[in-house]
Amino acid sequence: MPKFDITTSIGVLGAGTMGQGIAQVAATAGHAVVLYDSSRTALENARSGLSAILQRQVDKKRMSQSSADGILGRINFAHDPYKFATCGLIIEAIVEDLAVKRNVYSQVESIVPPDCILASNTSSLPIAAIGASCDKPERMLGAHFFNPAPLMPLVEIIPGVATAADVVQATCRLIDRWGKTTVLAKDTPGFIVNRVARPFYGEALRLLEEGMADVATIDWAMKEIGGFRMGPFELMDFIGNDINYAVTETVFAAFFYDPRYRPSFTQKRLVEAGYLGRKTGRGHYDYRPGAENPAPRQDRPLGEQIFKRILAMLINEAADAVFWQIGSPEDIDQAMIKGVNYPKGLLQWADEIGLKTVLGQLEGLQKEYGEDRYRPSPLLRRKVRKGETFLSHG
Ligand code: NAI
Repeated sequence: MPKFDITTSIGVLGAGTMGQGIAQVAATAGHAVVLYDSSRTALENARSGLSAILQRQVDKKRMSQSSADGILGRINFAHDPYKFATCGLIIEAIVEDLAVKRNVYSQVESIVPPDCILASNTSSLPIAAIGASCDKPERMLGAHFFNPAPLMPLVEIIPGVATAADVVQATCRLIDRWGKTTVLAKDTPGFIVNRVARPFYGEALRLLEEGMADVATIDWAMKEIGGFRMGPFELMDFIGNDINYAVTETVFAAFFYDPRYRPSFTQKRLVEAGYLGRKTGRGHYDYRPGAENPAPRQDRPLGEQIFKRILAMLINEAADAVFWQIGSPEDIDQAMIKGVNYPKGLLQWADEIGLKTVLGQLEGLQKEYGEDRYRPSPLLRRKVRKGETFLSHG
């Protein structure tokens, strides 16, 4: 029998937004799932929420009634953590608080079998710090799903300092079998996606603050010229400015205040004013009934300038993530396409535009502003010098 046998039942710890989605994914793949939460209300909401989601699939004829019943029937909504006693893998998705997580891991470890893998869905806490609360940190790792988990194909797999290699392999193998795309990321702030995506918001906010264009025009440029599904401001309003700002602030602090990740006052003020986005009816845009929002200035040369500047910053971030070995070039490109729906991998894009052109843009910005924010990644410089591309285009 293999050491890490995760063909058995899967435990999901925390029945909130992410826990529900992950339980649905595992049950759809045929596993018996124990979905545990300390709150009975959260469990009831999870049961009714999942039931409604599956019923909608049946109504739209995307799923048979018996499949929907099967998925729901495989999930045990548990208020007793001892139900984890036979699980081969636990995926934890409770509140994003290190002290609470560490406490829960030490409790759960006394219940689960000795070879049970413990995975955290944390978006911002160090895996090493969570693992340190375990008796056996070698069986603990990060498995970062994206919201909504049943629809978003990406899962970042993050080994901590102590994680054993066979734990990483067994987890990747299993989650790949669920139809997801796993990428390996180093245990550093934001992992791949939440690090590499920062300039999509940060540079857009900067252009707004500089008065280069308004919100609608920047969104228009990124969608119309860049091919992104949503513009940065629409996306910030969708995610919630509070959440998006908190991620930026966490990443900024975690990088020892590297100016490249500095948060924006404009977004901070929106959060302070309660303009959180769609959920409060106001954000960068006004969502209240009957509200009118300004139309974009559809000025193509201006749009090109906006798009090229944000893209150059995104490419620089992706290049630097390769430089610091946060992920492989292939994984970094996959992560941005499958985790945040980018129209193309950033490194592929860089190769197509020409690395020299991208480097020239960044050097121009650095010269203009004299800020470290625009410093080109050493890897970009090195590749230009050697005449190399990021990916092999055979
Ligand atoms: P949520 O607030 O919707 O759900 C958290 C659940 O954990 C609640 O039902 C709560 O009752 C339960 N809980 C809290 N403390 C507990 C304890 N000690 N024992 C058992 N249950 C407990 O949170 P959400 O959004 O699902 O996030 C969960 C985790 O997933 C966090 O680590 C977050 O950073 C991460 N994440 C969130 C994403 C999102 O878009 N919401 C995306 C990717 C990761």
